Amino acid sequence: MSTGAYRESYDRSMADPEGFWLEAAREIDWITAPTRALDDSRPPFYRWFPDGTLNTCFNAVDRHVAAGRGDQPAVIHDSPVTDAVTTLTYRQLLVEVQRAAGVLVAHGVGRGDRVIIYLPMASEAVISMLACARIGAVHSVVFGGFAPAELAARIDDALPTVLITATCGIERGRVLPYLPLVRAAVERSSAREPTVIVIARPQQVEPLQDHEIDWETALAGAEPVLACTEVAATDPLYILYTSGTTGKPKGIVRDNGGHAVALRRSMTEIFGIRPGEVWFTASDVGWVVGHSYIVYAPLLTGCTTVVYEGKPVGTPDASAFWRVLAQHRVSGMFTAPTAIRAIKKDDPDGVLLAGHDVSALRTLFLAGERLDPDTWQWATDLLDVPVIDNWWQTETGWPIAANPVGTEMFPVKPGSATFPSVGYDVRVLDARGTPVAAGVEGAVSIKLPLPPGTLQTLWGDDDRYVDGYLAACDGYYSTGDGGYLDDDGYLWIMGRTDDVLNVAGHRLSTGSLEAALAGHPAVAECAVIGVADELKGQVPRALVVLKGATQLDPAAVATLRAELVQRVRDEVGAVASLRRVDVVDALPKTRSGKILRRTMRQIADGVPAPVPSTIEDPAVLQALTEVLTSPSSS
Ligand code: COA
Ligand code: AMP
Repeated sequence: MSTGAYRESYDRSMADPEGFWLEAAREIDWITAPTRALDDSRPPFYRWFPDGTLNTCFNAVDRHVAAGRGDQPAVIHDSPVTDAVTTLTYRQLLVEVQRAAGVLVAHGVGRGDRVIIYLPMASEAVISMLACARIGAVHSVVFGGFAPAELAARIDDALPTVLITATCGIERGRVLPYLPLVRAAVERSSAREPTVIVIARPQQVEPLQDHEIDWETALAGAEPVLACTEVAATDPLYILYTSGTTGKPKGIVRDNGGHAVALRRSMTEIFGIRPGEVWFTASDVGWVVGHSYIVYAPLLTGCTTVVYEGKPVGTPDASAFWRVLAQHRVSGMFTAPTAIRAIKKDDPDGVLLAGHDVSALRTLFLAGERLDPDTWQWATDLLDVPVIDNWWQTETGWPIAANPVGTEMFPVKPGSATFPSVGYDVRVLDARGTPVAAGVEGAVSIKLPLPPGTLQTLWGDDDRYVDGYLAACDGYYSTGDGGYLDDDGYLWIMGRTDDVLNVAGHRLSTGSLEAALAGHPAVAECAVIGVADELKGQVPRALVVLKGATQLDPAAVATLRAELVQRVRDEVGAVASLRRVDVVDALPKTRSGKILRRTMRQIADGVPAPVPSTIEDPAVLQALTEVLTSPSSS
């Protein structure tokens, strides 16, 4: 670490991306080493390491065993909800992955075939992902908190050969059966029915149906896959669906080669973690943070990764993370600001840290949503280690901006994610696509090409990729976030400029929630907005207009509200956390019929909300102001 090291690295990544990334690629074991970094022959579709071949699972598991790490813990599954801690060394992980790959092959999965993984935070989630990578199959992990309709949409898009699930997840002492959800999703889906492989958890014993296969039985009969399949660096490793503004999820496609290179590099150069160290990301494998920093980056680096099946609070209390840090001698931790806010709420003075020796911890990293300065200060004071904000998204797979502590640590400005990471040419643009001056807010954009490890396209939909991300300004990727660069070059992210919701670090689409509400027979139209929330950063609020001149008495309104909340739980999932529904007479719109969600959100959050000149009827907005600013529903 030396002064100027970041600037030197960053400038080189801009001036000589070819040399920079080919050098970074040396940290990966290739079958055929790439001779070229960037393939820019088909803009705006850029590809990295076009002539390289490798296997990601080999890099995450096999090579560490070969290099003498066989007896080092690879995965520690720490599960307060099942009261168990189990460790797999790299050698044991290799055996488990080889067997799981055998199950997939036995059920017809080959290179390029898709496998949906709908699992709680069990070791099998990691094993299944790596097993797919081993045979060149493409995994698509779906967050367990999503309801059947969301799972069905992903099945319809990915067309999986196999779906791996478990009999249940466990949420703060409650057993949540998964099979009814999976069966409903398969039923709803119009795709060919995948083979469903089920991990039987003792907390929920359930007889299987005809087309369902028991994981243990399948493992017993499977031939382990000893060799890793050679794939092109540009072949897809996974699809991860994320929310846009419409109800249809977007399948982010990640490659093998660029992903391995970028993630491996990020662990040492951004996060400052060395091979052999213990790393703990408290998130879920269903989100990108889980993909990148529970599974791939730590394993590609030869670290020990803690897979935690629990919550920051309530499993059993707000000391849960401190216990994990102490018990496993964790060097680096990553989570979402919401998790820290939840701990702070339950234990404002941090007294529960006492008795836990967290002295191995060097750094806490927070991302997934805006890190508010209060939370940053609280965590900094309590843990007495640098607390590092980093900003990125499912699409990019690794930080677009961070304080790169592994290269050089800069003074923290709370609320800023610090500087762009190597390879990211971040510009703030105005509505015409012109870069704005320092301190002026605009659309945070990245000049193409994006660096290795970022999305290649949307699964099966190049047009939507171009329209959704590249069309706003020629030659730039639009992040969907607004923000500014200050005079010192620090990047400040101010929030989404579209209608994407971010609830407790979980990204949700207004469109999915609105579709669920609109399906209720009494609803004529509706809008969902994300409003500020002390704990979850943002929570959804729904405004519904009823059909005809429906006049309901208070009891009927209460019933309707409960039905609408339930609909969202059933169609999107409990994780949407919709609690408040207001029945209103009309929704404010522009003359072209676009609902003014942003203006309503600003009013609800109490920030200045300029009335758009295109508004159809200002009286509608005026009438809503009271509802939007009122602390309880109308
Ligand atoms: N499977 C099934 N249901 C799930 C689920 C999962 N994997 N994850 C959450 N849910 C359910 C919860 O049980 C809850 O249901 P309920 O309304 O019936 O109680 C609902 O979804 C909302 O869950 P959650 O967002 O976890 O809210 P909470 O109030 O239970 O807990 C926090 C609040 C702050 C503790 C929690 O949001 C948290 O741990 N946040 C960390 C954020 C994080 O890791 N984000 C990942 C991106 S980095
Ligand atoms: P996801 O794709 O689920 O990771 O969500 C990405 C979005 O979360 C980004 O576009 C931002 O709006 C928000 N986000 C993630 N990290 C940060 C951060 N450090 N600061 C501010 N917003 C963030």
